[in-house]
Amino acid sequence: MDLFDKCKNFTKSKELEEVGLYPYFQPISSKQDTEVIINGKKVLMFGSNSYLGLTVHPKVKKAAMDAVEKYGTGCAGSRFLNGTLDIHEELEEKLAEFVNKEKAILFSTGFQANLGAISALANKNEYIILDKSDHASIVDGTRLSDATIKRFLHNNMCSLEKVLSSIDINVPKFIIVDGVYSMDGDITNLPEIIKLKNRYNAKVMVDDAHSFGVIGKNGRGTANYYNLEDETDVIMGTFSKSFASLGGFIASSEEVIEYLRHFARSLIFSASITPSSTAAVLASLEIMQKEPELIEKLWENTKRMRNGVLDMGYNIGVSTTPIIPLIVGDNEKVLMMRKILFENGVFVNPVVSPAVPPNQTLIRLSLMATHTFKQIDLALEKIYEVGKQLKII
Ligand SMILES: Cc1ncc(COP(=O)(O)O)c(C=O)c1O
Repeated sequence: MDLFDKCKNFTKSKELEEVGLYPYFQPISSKQDTEVIINGKKVLMFGSNSYLGLTVHPKVKKAAMDAVEKYGTGCAGSRFLNGTLDIHEELEEKLAEFVNKEKAILFSTGFQANLGAISALANKNEYIILDKSDHASIVDGTRLSDATIKRFLHNNMCSLEKVLSSIDINVPKFIIVDGVYSMDGDITNLPEIIKLKNRYNAKVMVDDAHSFGVIGKNGRGTANYYNLEDETDVIMGTFSKSFASLGGFIASSEEVIEYLRHFARSLIFSASITPSSTAAVLASLEIMQKEPELIEKLWENTKRMRNGVLDMGYNIGVSTTPIIPLIVGDNEKVLMMRKILFENGVFVNPVVSPAVPPNQTLIRLSLMATHTFKQIDLALEKIYEVGKQLKII
């Protein structure tokens, strides 16, 4: 036995590459925009998380470039020691205000925000309760904590109540959910979760990675969308989606953030986010507040795509947001569909098992505010053709 036997035995990626079906690590040689260039080929981008299209916004790009001029390219240290910039603090203040919380703290990625916050906040003899569709970073954060983990069926409140009621009322519990689910494209049932958390002595954290810039007033996320900001204990966000940058944050009460500043290991033992990333988020945040028409356009585009695929007979599951899954339920067909769409000029993301159960494999479409109707209609035409060709519709 050799440590690296598992690597030697992993041949799936090469096998898929040989038959032209390998879909991952496609190198883009242009901006992350509604059209991108991959291997010299121009394709429509329907797989981006840049929901508002701000990665190419002139003001966001300029802010990032100006920050490099003023602060250089990196912070060369953790926030804890030499890596705190005045713009980090400015962004924390603005984000706390944006989500109506007392304080916020930045992390270098959203993944790290979940790892650091969850592992610090839930300890031994306490419980973390997860939705089965929660993001991998939430799952890994719980693994790093010493708490006991329980799961409930996706967005199923009876299942959540069953879990909560099985635990001693006096034992602290932490319910953690995604605001908008990254594969299903549905919105968490926060009003019911809040009722349950009050009844069963729990706190709630919402991962708003896919909610900011998408739902709530001016894209303020799930708690704002439901008018439940005060009742939502912890809000997490990432900058890698609507904020058009890289990094993440946690917002909560002053005491929770003060605790995280001293106990979140992924914060303390990792370098702070770069000046350019920070400045890009500051600019994106301002645009979200000053250009609400972008969010309106995102929803108009979503409606056009959604109605289009529904009319064709695609199954989009429980999606109600700009994340639209086309449920195919067959690994090979999903990979084939991705390939044919790419050859026909449309980039989409395949989601195959084990990321989802085999009967739930899907093509994930995501809309951007900056897509034109012409681009959406062209994609729809290709999605229709491939659906017929592969007998999915
Ligand atoms: C729901 C959710 N949470 C957290 C993350 C991690 O964010 P980041 O890309 O900033 O590491 C993602 C990104 O994939 C996500 O979709």
